[in-house]
Order: sequence, then structure tokens, then C-alpha cells
Amino acid sequence: MKLLAIDTSCDETSVAVTEENHILSNIISSQVKDHQEFGGVVPFLAQRLHRERIDAVIELSLMEAKVGWPEIEAIAVTYGPGLAPALEVGLEKAQELAKLHGKPLYAVNHMAGHIASVFTETVPAYPLLALLLSGGHSELVLARSFSSFTILGQTLDDALGEAYDKVGKMLGFGYPGGKLVADAAAEGNDQAYELPVPMLRSGDLNLSYSGLKNAVRLLIAEQGELDRQKIVDIAASFERVAQESVLRKVTKALELYPDVQQLVFGGGVAANKRLRTSLNELCVERGVTLLTPVSMDLCTDNAAMIGLAAWLGIKAGQKAVESYADRVPYLSLEDTSFD
Ligand code: KG4
Ligand code: ZN
Repeated sequence: MKLLAIDTSCDETSVAVTEENHILSNIISSQVKDHQEFGGVVPFLAQRLHRERIDAVIELSLMEAKVGWPEIEAIAVTYGPGLAPALEVGLEKAQELAKLHGKPLYAVNHMAGHIASVFTETVPAYPLLALLLSGGHSELVLARSFSSFTILGQTLDDALGEAYDKVGKMLGFGYPGGKLVADAAAEGNDQAYELPVPMLRSGDLNLSYSGLKNAVRLLIAEQGELDRQKIVDIAASFERVAQESVLRKVTKALELYPDVQQLVFGGGVAANKRLRTSLNELCVERGVTLLTPVSMDLCTDNAAMIGLAAWLGIKAGQKAVESYADRVPYLSLEDTSFD
């Protein structure tokens, strides 16, 4: 089943063609540079840029996949979570195309997409645990099938990617600074500074990063002038405790759900090498398989993962939308369960 998938949930205009778990094309037009001068994503600028670019991205995606409209069997589109003005562009376009070409339309949860992003070479084994860490979300999810999700824990404030970006800004890196902080951390001494491990005694599976962010702010203020050594050491110390918090919650979740066989690690932060390595050690110890996206393009926002999620959803019984689907900016994975 060949699907054309669209994601415009944030600042990437992306269109992909997928066939079951195969990706035939995955075109991503990033707006990162356009939002850079504002230090974050500006929703109405994102909307305007999605509108300007979407037709060309669709055309490119079909061309690269060497697929014409008659071969496309369905359209999949993200309807949430994300920025309302941005989501609208993809949804309107998907509905217009579904009508024009007479194709069924599937509305997909962006976070289900981040889970599906790892299933290009492997098939899901349920129940599975998903750790989804991006610039907008930090969630631990239990999936009993691709139609039954339970949120076990989530961030109470900042997402982990967002915390990386904010620490990056404090250390003088541009936006988004997550990768630059991770690169700096790799050169630093992670024991150089004491910082609090977030949510150590919370007793639940939630995460929180605003306290750590403020502790880093204070630490930087105490240091006065920052030289390169201090920058890499602060980055490394931040990374150690930020990740320690994630590792403790994942360990606890695996203890609570001993029948979990796969740990899915998705979202932009899944590009982080240190976290991949420590999660892998944890999984090996427990006989769980760690699954991460096979490429960087599949970690950050992209439409191929939406096509993959639609395919897994359809196999699990997901129905096409009748006529109109509205965007749901705060959509939760639990709202998408259809079991
Ligand atoms: O999934 P994504 O593209 O966007 C959202 O849906 O939010 O994730 C982007 C986030 C940014 O916050 C970025 O700084 C972070 O992922 N990120 C990283 C790394 N690469 C990207 N964070 C930590 N280490 C990395 N290597
Ligand atoms: Zn995302």
C-alpha cells in the first residue's frame, strides 16, 4: 500500500511516500534558519513558509519516489500535537488532495509517528515502551498495540530537547543548540560541577527540567567569564544529570512492566550518542531490544514516520476520516487509542 504522508506540525515542511515499512522518499524542507533570528519557532511565520513550500515539497516527494497519483492508495497527515497555524497547512492540503484524487485520508498523531520512526527494519513486539524526547515533548509511553497507548510519564515543564536548547543559549550557542551542547559535552569533564538530578525522589515516571535549567543558569552566573574549558565542562555536567534522570525513569518503567521486549527511542534527542549508549547498556542488562531510528532524518520531524505510523495504524484497525479532520494542538497519544 503506497501512502503519501504530510507533516507540518512545527518548522519542517515534510512530505514522504511510503510503502508498508519502506520509505520511497522523505523530503524535508527545514525552516530552522528562518526562525533562528527569533530564537525559537514563530507560529505564523511557520504557517506562511509551509504554505509557500508545500506544493513543491509534494512534487519533489512524488518525483523522488517515482510514483504518480494513480499509484498512491491513501493520504496520511499529522493532525496534532503541534502548532495550530502550522498543522492547518498540512491538514488543508491533505484534505484538498484526498478530494481531488479520490483517496482515503488517515489522520495521524505526530507522537505515534515518532514511535513508528524506528520500524523500518524491525516489526513491533508488544507491549513496548517508547521514550520520546524532542524539542516539544518528553514522554514515556506504553504501547499494548499500535492502537492502545498509555502515557506512563511526561515532562512537567520543559522537554529535554528544549532544556538542551536553553542551556545552549546560556552557553552562547545559536538556536537550536541541542546538538552543539552534546558536541561540547563530549569534550568536557562531566564530573566538573555538581548539579541536581531532576525528579530523583518524585516516585513517579514524570520528568522535569526547569529546576536543572535554573541550576545551570546560577552556575554560569557564578563562573563570571566563560572560557572554552568551562563551557565544555558545564555542558558535560548538565548532560550527565539530565540523562541520569531519564535513565532512572526508564529503569523504573522496565521494572514495572517486565513483559516489555522493545524500548523505542525516538524524537530529536534520539540523535544523542551518549544517551543511546547508556540506554543500550540498560537494555542489554535487561534483555530488552533498543530500537532507534536508522538515520538522523528519522529522529527529527519528518513525514516518513507519519506514513509508517499510518501503515501500523491501518493494520491495527484505524479507519480513514470521513470528510474533515480538525487540528488538535495538544493531542495526546491516549486520545488516539482506538482499541
Ligand atoms: O523531534 P524534533 O525535531 O522536534 C520536535 O518535534 O520538537 O527535535 C528537535 C530537538 C531540539 O530541541 C534539538 O536541540 C534536539 O532535538 N537535539 C538534540 C540533539 N540533536 C537534536 N538534543 C541532544 N543531543 C543531540 N545530539
Ligand atoms: Zn517531533
